[in-house]
Amino acid sequence: MSKRENFGTKIGAVLAAAGSAVGLGNIWRFPIETGKNGGAAFILVYIACIILLGLPLMMSEFLIGRNTQANTARAYQKLAPGTSWKWVGRLGVFTAFFIMSYYGVIAGWTIEYAVLAIGNQFAGKTPAEFAQVFTDFSSSTWLPLLWMVVFVLMTHFVIVKGVTKGIERWSKVLMPMLFIIIMILVGCSVTLPNASEGVSFLLKPEWSKVDGSVVLSAMGQAFFSLSLGMGCLCTYASYFDKNTSLGKTAVQVCVIDTIIALMAGFIIFPSAFSVGIRPEESGPALLFITLPNVFQQAFAGAPWIAYIFSVMFYLLVIVAALTSTISLHEVVTSYMAEEFHMPRKKAAAWETGGIIFFGIFCSLSFGVLSGITVGGENIFGIFDWVAAKICLPVGGMFISLFAGWYLDKKLFRDEITNYGESRAPYVKILIFILRYVAPVAILAILLNEIGVLSLLN
Ligand code: TRP
Repeated sequence: MSKRENFGTKIGAVLAAAGSAVGLGNIWRFPIETGKNGGAAFILVYIACIILLGLPLMMSEFLIGRNTQANTARAYQKLAPGTSWKWVGRLGVFTAFFIMSYYGVIAGWTIEYAVLAIGNQFAGKTPAEFAQVFTDFSSSTWLPLLWMVVFVLMTHFVIVKGVTKGIERWSKVLMPMLFIIIMILVGCSVTLPNASEGVSFLLKPEWSKVDGSVVLSAMGQAFFSLSLGMGCLCTYASYFDKNTSLGKTAVQVCVIDTIIALMAGFIIFPSAFSVGIRPEESGPALLFITLPNVFQQAFAGAPWIAYIFSVMFYLLVIVAALTSTISLHEVVTSYMAEEFHMPRKKAAAWETGGIIFFGIFCSLSFGVLSGITVGGENIFGIFDWVAAKICLPVGGMFISLFAGWYLDKKLFRDEITNYGESRAPYVKILIFILRYVAPVAILAILLNEIGVLSLLN
């Protein structure tokens, strides 16, 4: 097999991992989950999940990936030959495929909104009109399909260009730009009239609203947002070089990802409250109805600023989504290429075709297929539910069991300390969390949701 590429620079590795983590999960899914689950209290549970589960799991994925330098399924075979652990890797490949299929739909919507912004279609519209535009578009058949396909093909294009040339170069320039524009938008949003109600929704926890399903949602969101639980970061870490500090990188990625999610919350909710949109009933619409409205209101006196901001914002969201889908695509592509000995191009083409096929059903589930539901969720919602609330937590649980119990402690310590190059006094705590805390917590949260724990009472 030819030598695998590595990320050219350390900052490139961090940014690529952060690029995977930061995406629609932060800007689109986080506000939805926060809205549905009651605001500030959800956010605190979410942050607890990031620190207690996310960070240790991220370090585990990093160390498994860098140690084996292989795709995620092969990684487990290398570390645990002849055992069933390879199924953890395979579950990850399946999950990646699954997430891509519906993620591409929303990513496609952001292209439509970039096009609308470029055509100055937001100018002078009222919130009610924005709502109408969104409903008309998302329930139509062809346009959302077209954009979904365009988006998936964009991902495909970067993937076949290879790791350093594609992923790293994109991430390095565009991530910082996204950060800056988000910061400016927070400023705009919190100064809108009546924005303070939205701010207190984000800051004043109402603990009475927290139940098992809120906790599951927070955990699922933490995994989703950090790209954890299915070998995505494991695959990326296989491209890290041997001097990359795994602990530091993990902390940096968690911090960046959480800050961006929180900032997205501070853009969306103050502006939603400002125009009287209730957070719990607005769902997928927040990014597409509330936000265009922010631009119009905040810059009512200067329409050209509103224009530039809305164009830049949606373009950057496309980029953020793209750096995430690249990482999802890469999991499946590198798996197929290396396990089935195909050229990368061919592997990528199979993957792209499959995503588009399932993506069609997810896209149509907002329109002609909206009648197909399970428990009130359309096909899209079912995909999201299964991926974020079942596959990722289950994957995460097995990864933590693997890292905590199965992996050789010396190998574990060597990887975390870069073979003695740096100190990592926290290794013992880390292993303790991976052995006991994380698996038990994840299992309890899952069982609670299925209702098993209530049977015990
Ligand atoms: N974390 C990305 C986001 O927030 C989405 C994503 C990329 C992802 N890779 C993943 C989610 C792996 C779960 C698992 O948009």
